[in-house]
Amino acid sequence: MASVKTVVTTPFSGQKPGTSGLRKKVAVFSQPHYLENFVQAVFDSIGGETGGEVAGKTLVVGGDGRYYNRTAIQAIIKMAAGNGFAKVMVGRGGILSTPAASCVIRKYKTFGGIILSASHNPGGPTEDFGIKYNIPAGGPAPEAVTEAIHARSQVIGSYKIVEAPDLDLDKLGEQRLGDMVVQVFDPVADYAALMESLFDFPAIRAAFKGGFRMKFDAMHAVTGPYAVEILENRLGAPKGTVMNGVPLEDFGGGHPDPNLVHAHDLVEALTGDGAPDFGAASDGDGDRNMVLGRDFYVTPSDSLAVLAANATLCPGYAQGLKGIARSMPTSAAPDRVAAKLGIPAWETPTGWKFFGTLLDAGKATLCGEESFGTGSDHVREKDGLWAVLMWLNVLARRKESVADIVTAHWKEYGRNVYSRHDYEGIDAKAADGLMEHLRGLALKGKRLGAYAVAFNDDFAYTDPVDGSVSTKQGIRVVFEDGSRVVFRLSGTGTEGATLRVYIERYEPDSAKHHLDPQTALADLIKIARDLAEIEARTGRTEPTVIT
Ligand code: G6P
Ligand code: ZN
Repeated sequence: MASVKTVVTTPFSGQKPGTSGLRKKVAVFSQPHYLENFVQAVFDSIGGETGGEVAGKTLVVGGDGRYYNRTAIQAIIKMAAGNGFAKVMVGRGGILSTPAASCVIRKYKTFGGIILSASHNPGGPTEDFGIKYNIPAGGPAPEAVTEAIHARSQVIGSYKIVEAPDLDLDKLGEQRLGDMVVQVFDPVADYAALMESLFDFPAIRAAFKGGFRMKFDAMHAVTGPYAVEILENRLGAPKGTVMNGVPLEDFGGGHPDPNLVHAHDLVEALTGDGAPDFGAASDGDGDRNMVLGRDFYVTPSDSLAVLAANATLCPGYAQGLKGIARSMPTSAAPDRVAAKLGIPAWETPTGWKFFGTLLDAGKATLCGEESFGTGSDHVREKDGLWAVLMWLNVLARRKESVADIVTAHWKEYGRNVYSRHDYEGIDAKAADGLMEHLRGLALKGKRLGAYAVAFNDDFAYTDPVDGSVSTKQGIRVVFEDGSRVVFRLSGTGTEGATLRVYIERYEPDSAKHHLDPQTALADLIKIARDLAEIEARTGRTEPTVIT
């Protein structure tokens, strides 16, 4: 009989979960009691007044396989037993992608789940680790919950844990830990079944059979096993379609972020005459996606717009969409589709959690962010492989190339030419000063170069479902013709500050749609740099990443 031990502890400062949970270096997490304190704060916060409401409940646990994943999972399972959970469901090998976790939490109506990931940040003993709690609806905890967790972590005096040998995380089936059941389950099966219910697998299978070729770059992160099972085993894509498919604790030394810079192997594979028809990549924990055609890059904003316009080709969305939601810095391309479909377009702050209320209330079906996130009401996280499968469904049904589909879309709707410029690792004080400076500008009615300013503000959002208000979500400078520049500080970086500048211009003239965005946006890019005094304030003359 395993015995419950109460361990005396003292609070750590800074256990404040951000947009996507608590993210710190492994060295921080591996301090004695650090992880345990946070997990106890989660259990105390979700357990109601007495903390006892977790008794008899089921918890889902899994992560992206990065260094420290298994160690953390062993501790969490033993603490779940110590706190009276009836059951923990854990993905085999400790593996569970973020969208699959959301799927399983919802499907088995559990009391939420704990996901171990630092998303697209590098992994390994000297790199990042992360932990977050998702609520029973399957999505990230809303601010009220993360604030309660933080508050609890600051006064915590002890945690409860069962003393027992480690569990076998690689053996499917049930094990016991005292009174608690630990069920090790196949992390792919439920998720794959959900995908099969949403998309036209026969049409995609027929496309692969007919010679359609793709490359999926799992970046040695969590989506490898999912992509091999779904793309190669179930849909019949040739073996080797999935690149870097084995999850590694350090992601093979790479940076598992699916963008043009970090997914360069994929970009190279999609370049030139012999290249496959379609390319895609996902990030560390499987919620982001990047989509490419042969010699063609699809921006996340365009991807959402194109998927929305073609959604009814997919069985799961054949009845049409209830609405489309996008984060504020995402381009307005999806809004144009919504207008044409006669459905609402929602503009939320950055962060997937803001879509949750809209999805729960049936106000939106598809949602997306410029930060390589796309998803729908099938789960409450963004979903990398889902986006890839939706594209495959559309490609298999339309039988046109990615480039043809996107350029036809621009022709019909006009093009929201778009680019994001990141200035990474800048001095945090300088970054704050820059934002403060922008906040103080009164630009309405002024001209900047060829552009007249319609308004400028610091984006604030009132949730139309629960009425909660979020302020200071990014500086917008919006021009009379709908063009705009947006400035935000990243909420996910771990070193210094990262300034993101989003530049967008609407181009109705299809004769100009082929232009490189950096050329088409050159004057707005200069306006943005001058306005924010980027060089003077940060010492940077060029961004570190352009997407
Ligand atoms: C995470 C969230 C996304 C959000 C992104 C913003 O990935 O899950 O919903 O869009 O962070 O990142 P940033 O670095 O721009 O704050
Ligand atoms: Zn992620």
